[in-house]
Amino acid sequence: MIIGGSASQKLAAKIAKELKTTLIPIETRKFPDGERYIRIKGQLEDKAIVVQSTGYPQDENLIELFLILKNLKSMGIKKIKVVIPYFGYGRQERRFKSGEAVSATIISQLLEFAGADKVFCVNLHENNITDFFKIPAYDLSAMPPIADYIQKTLENPVIIAPDKGALGFAKEIAEILNCGYDYLEKTRISPEVVETKPKSLDIKGKEAVIIDDIISTGGTIVNAVKILKEHGASKVLVSCVHPVLVEDALLKIFAAGVDDVVATDTLQSEVSVISVASIIAEALKKD
Ligand code: R5P
Repeated sequence: MIIGGSASQKLAAKIAKELKTTLIPIETRKFPDGERYIRIKGQLEDKAIVVQSTGYPQDENLIELFLILKNLKSMGIKKIKVVIPYFGYGRQERRFKSGEAVSATIISQLLEFAGADKVFCVNLHENNITDFFKIPAYDLSAMPPIADYIQKTLENPVIIAPDKGALGFAKEIAEILNCGYDYLEKTRISPEVVETKPKSLDIKGKEAVIIDDIISTGGTIVNAVKILKEHGASKVLVSCVHPVLVEDALLKIFAAGVDDVVATDTLQSEVSVISVASIIAEALKKD
């Protein structure tokens, strides 16, 4: 049986369909003072798959997930696989300055405490986060469905990573599509400001596809779009796994002259047109 938290309702339904399994109804709401209420309805089986992204509002979605997991365990469910398509708090996976909380470790420990027996995530911000769990934890790649979308949409793409950290994604897609790829040099000045160095790129007249794991404020992508347009790309498509999209991020990206923005459904958004349901369903079937 599959239980979808309020942040991942449609994706949970799609995974249930792929696995031909029951989607259990769940009631989630807030008390007038803001506290979370959850109630699991329907006929329960002895194993469960819970799907819940922990993006904005991270704390509420996490609390909801913890309530679901502890509740299932107290109702006698023996094995729980937890799918966290977008893993919130994944950016602080080490102590950069003394005294900082290593949030990703703490969240991993809390998930185990709440009753997770296995965890499945998609493109964790840092893949060493799987090592923080004592239970089996998997970091799935959304690049195959993104590559599939690009193949169906463009004829002659070249894949561009907006920074070195995203180079692995560009390479993975380029290998699937058998096309060229490159990356840009980005320096982060602050959480809101990034600088991207100009560099020589062979993209004149080509369809450029930017790929990143997360679009947050959109600053990284806006810089990349401007550089690709200056280099004469005939088209610029932006793709990402997790459309965090803070405030007017999408508007800023379109205003930079991009042709389209697409993302996966690890987070529900107006650009979540590529589904990760099949890669998650495959991983759940195997393990
Ligand atoms: C950085 O490490 C990530 O891969 C993304 O490039 C970053 O999160 C994007 O942030 P923003 O949209 O705020 O530039």
